[in-house]
Amino acid sequence: MPERWYQQAVVYCLDVETFQDSNGDGVGDLHGLMSRLDYLARLGVTTLWLNPIHPTPGRDDGYDVADFYGVDPRLGSLGDFVELVHQCENRGIRVMIDLVVNHTSDEHPWFRSARSSPDSPYRDWYVWSEAEPPKREEGVVFPGYQRGTWSYDEEAGLWYHHRFYEFQPDLNWSNPAVREEIGRVVAFWLELGVSGFRMDGAPFVIEEVHPDTGERTMHYEWLNDLRDHIGWRRGDGAVLAEANVPREQLLEFFGPRGDRLQMMFNFAENQRMFLALARGSATPVVTAIEASPALPPACSWATFLRNHDEIDLSGLKESERADVFAQFGPEPEMQLYDRGIRRRLAPMLGGDRRRIALAYVLQFSLPGTPVIRYGEEIGMGDDLTLEQRDSIRTPMQWADAPRGGFTTSDRPVRPVVAKGDFGYPVVNVRDQQRDPDSLLSWFERTIRVLRECPEFGTGTCAVLDTRSEQVLGLRYDGPSGSVLAVLNLAESPSTVDLAGQVEATDGFPVDELADRPYDPAPADLSAVEVDGRGYRWLRLSRTVGA
Ligand code: NOJ
Repeated sequence: MPERWYQQAVVYCLDVETFQDSNGDGVGDLHGLMSRLDYLARLGVTTLWLNPIHPTPGRDDGYDVADFYGVDPRLGSLGDFVELVHQCENRGIRVMIDLVVNHTSDEHPWFRSARSSPDSPYRDWYVWSEAEPPKREEGVVFPGYQRGTWSYDEEAGLWYHHRFYEFQPDLNWSNPAVREEIGRVVAFWLELGVSGFRMDGAPFVIEEVHPDTGERTMHYEWLNDLRDHIGWRRGDGAVLAEANVPREQLLEFFGPRGDRLQMMFNFAENQRMFLALARGSATPVVTAIEASPALPPACSWATFLRNHDEIDLSGLKESERADVFAQFGPEPEMQLYDRGIRRRLAPMLGGDRRRIALAYVLQFSLPGTPVIRYGEEIGMGDDLTLEQRDSIRTPMQWADAPRGGFTTSDRPVRPVVAKGDFGYPVVNVRDQQRDPDSLLSWFERTIRVLRECPEFGTGTCAVLDTRSEQVLGLRYDGPSGSVLAVLNLAESPSTVDLAGQVEATDGFPVDELADRPYDPAPADLSAVEVDGRGYRWLRLSRTVGA
C-alpha cells in the first residue's frame, strides 16, 4: 500500500496573526509568514496548518468567521494567500487551513439576514427554537465563560443554538442548502491549492439537535459526502478532525472502510503523555496505545502535545488529573474550564531541556503524524496575565530585538513575552540558530531523523514488554523497514532486555537518534541501555540499503 503524504508529514500549526508582522501595524500577516518560509523549511516541517485566516470580528481568535471565501484584510488578500501556497510549493511544503463550519460569527451576513426576517433565505441555515429549550444550560464547551448552548435572539424573537460562545450561532447542517454551500467553500480553497483542512469541532458539525427533547442525533454520513466531494476535487485532499470523543465513537469518524476522514487528533494519547511525564511512568502511554482502536487502511492519528487551546484533561480519572495539575499546573491561574492547563510546554517542564526533549521524542514515537505548535521548537513560554487561551497565543520570538522581532509597532496584536526565563531576550530563534546545542538545533536534527524513519507514520506499532514501568518500548514495522523506540520516562537509568521480542537484521541495530552516544546495543537486543529521561531510536532493518 503506497503511503499517503499525510502519513509522512510533520505538521506545524501557526496563527498568521502572531507569527510575523511585515508592515508595522502590529499584526502578523501573510507576507510576514512568507518571509519566514525558509526558516520553516530549515526546521524540516512539511505541512503548515494555519489557524483561521478569514474575515472575523476576532472574538474567538478567528474561530468566529464572517466570510468563508475571504482572507481577513489585516492578514492580507486572497492574492497573498495564493502566493503563499506557491511559495510553500517551491519548498515542498503543503498548506492546510482550518475549516470552521459548525458555526459562523453572529456578524456573518448569513446570520444577520437569518435573524432579520422569517422570510430570509438564510433563516433555515441556523438552528432555532420558538420555545425555550428545556436543557439549554447543558453541553457548554467553555464552562465559566459560556452560559448555555441556547440564547434568545431579540431580533428574531427565537432561541438559537450555539455549541460554543453565544456569538457563534451553529449552522443547521440538516439543511441540504448549508451542506451544499460548505461544499462550495471547501472546493474554493482546494482550487486555491490547499492540501486539506483541520476540521474544527467535527462532532458538533454532524450532530442534529432536537430543541424540544435536548437529544442529539449524529449524522456520520455527512462526512462521507464531504470526503467524496473533496476527493473529486483533489484526490489527495485530506481532513484532520478535531473530535475529542469517547473511544467507541472514534472509528465512526474514520468510517468503517476508511471512507470518511483520514486523520484525527489523538486526544487520549495527549492527556496520557502528560500523565506519563508527571508520573515518570510509561504505563499511561502503553494503556492509551493499547486502547486505541486499529485504524482502517490509509487512516492516521495526528499526535500533539500543545496546540492553540488548553490541554484538555477531562479524559483522565480524578486522581490522574490531580497528578498532572500538581506537576504542571498547580496554580488556579494556570488552569482553565475546570478541565485543563493553559500553559506552554517549556514552562510546564521548568525549562528543563532534557525533559522537553523527552516529551517531544515521546510524541514523535507514537503512531501517526506529529503536529507541532509554533514556538515550541524554541521553548517559548506563556503569559498568564492574558485571558483564557490567549496565554499561549503570544507572538513568535524571532530575535533579541524590540518586541522579539515580531513587529516594529509598539502596539502588537498581543504582548510579546519580554521578561523572565522565557522572554525574547533569552528565548529567540536567532540566538538558537547560532547555537548547535540549542533546543531549536535539536528540533532540526530530530525532525530530520524522524523523516528518515517513516515507520512511525506508516508502520504497524507493537508495544514491547520492557519489564520496567518507567521504560517505554515500541516497535514499528513498515514497508521501509523496522524501528525500535526505547524511552525512559523516569530519572534513574535503566537497561532493558528485549530479546525475543525484536530482531535486528545484519548490520543492525543502529542508533538513529539518542539523547547521547550509547555503546551499540547487542544484536539480540538483550541489553538496551537508556539513561534517566533518555531515549533511543534504533533501526532494526531497512528494506534497501544499510
Ligand atoms: C475548537 C478550537 O480549537 C477552539 O480554539 C475554538 O474556540 C472552538 N473550536 C470554537 O470554534
